[in-house]
Amino acid sequence: MEKISLDTRISNVEKIKFEEREENVLRPSIWEDYVGQEQIKKNLDVFIRASKKRGEALDHILFFGPPGLGKTTLSYIIASKMETNIRVTAAPLIEKSGDLAAIMTNLSEGDILFIDEIHRLSPAIEEILYPAMEDFRLDIIIGSGPAAQTIKIDLPRFTLIGATTRAGMLSNPLRDRFGMNFRMEFYTKEELALILQKAILKLGKRISNESAYEIAKRSRGTPRIALRLLKRVRDFSEINDEEEIGIETTKYALNELGINDFGFDTLDLRYFEVLKNAKGKPMGLSTISAAMSEDEMTIEEAIEPFLLANGFIEKTAKGRILTHKFFNSL
Ligand SMILES: Nc1ncnc2c1ncn2[C@@H]1O[C@H](COP(=O)(O)OP(=O)(O)O)[C@@H](O)[C@H]1O
Ligand SMILES: [Mg+2]
Repeated sequence: MEKISLDTRISNVEKIKFEEREENVLRPSIWEDYVGQEQIKKNLDVFIRASKKRGEALDHILFFGPPGLGKTTLSYIIASKMETNIRVTAAPLIEKSGDLAAIMTNLSEGDILFIDEIHRLSPAIEEILYPAMEDFRLDIIIGSGPAAQTIKIDLPRFTLIGATTRAGMLSNPLRDRFGMNFRMEFYTKEELALILQKAILKLGKRISNESAYEIAKRSRGTPRIALRLLKRVRDFSEINDEEEIGIETTKYALNELGINDFGFDTLDLRYFEVLKNAKGKPMGLSTISAAMSEDEMTIEEAIEPFLLANGFIEKTAKGRILTHKFFNSL
């Protein structure tokens, strides 16, 4: 039986690229189908309409928040609303200044450049990005030593959209150059249930409201997880020859997948086991990481944000502790 493990939550680029190909079918492409994040949408709507009215490119935008909350999806939707092209890349793919120059010199006026995992840009690349963002100019240094020359290239006015799971790792100068800064929120169960209902239509199947709600409840507030669980549940349902995915099948499938009532999966449960061993004393990230044999980034990015947002753990100066809410949920 497949368990939801680190492997299905991991956020390295290759994995994201693969997942996104798989996810494209279910990715909403128009503004109206993008559920939730109401405050962000409200603000963006004003900025988009204003910049269209002025006939200018949109100001640079930064999205931050845990994986799977819809940063990439929203960026595509902005491009479609702005009626511009979007070029998509990720920071780990930009190794040399020439890589960035090649992308940027190919942009047209008003285009959107989307850089995923923007916190992973090297300092040297960041340096090149600053004048590009501010003055739409590339300063490229050619050669080295006394013979080095700086070439200035004018760029079209473009919009940079950066996405990051780790706002804290972004350098201040880079963060300051974004005109808009949005923190993505975890989704409510109602929002996730709606996302699931829209998705199942695209998959040519039906699901009862109760089932959609059950999956939503166990999806850690995250559309990517909700949609992945939906696909698994659908498999069970198809084997049972159901026309509409029913609640019995849904509960059975979710339990088989090792997802409990709060949406905790095996990764969360291992995290809790480690913290329980601390017997109420705070435990540092590196200790947790060693005990779980998972890297610190995974723990901070993929496990903790949901647990923190829902009050199952607390972060103190000395480390992480389990809360009363956690113990009451057992
Ligand atoms: N607000 C939303 N409404 C509908 N579907 C969403 C929404 N946000 C995310 N999704 C779905 O969840 C999946 C993951 O979203 P994505 O934009 O790739 O997340 P991120 O870039 O933040 O990791 C997408 O395939 C998309 O179908
Ligand atoms: Mg993404």
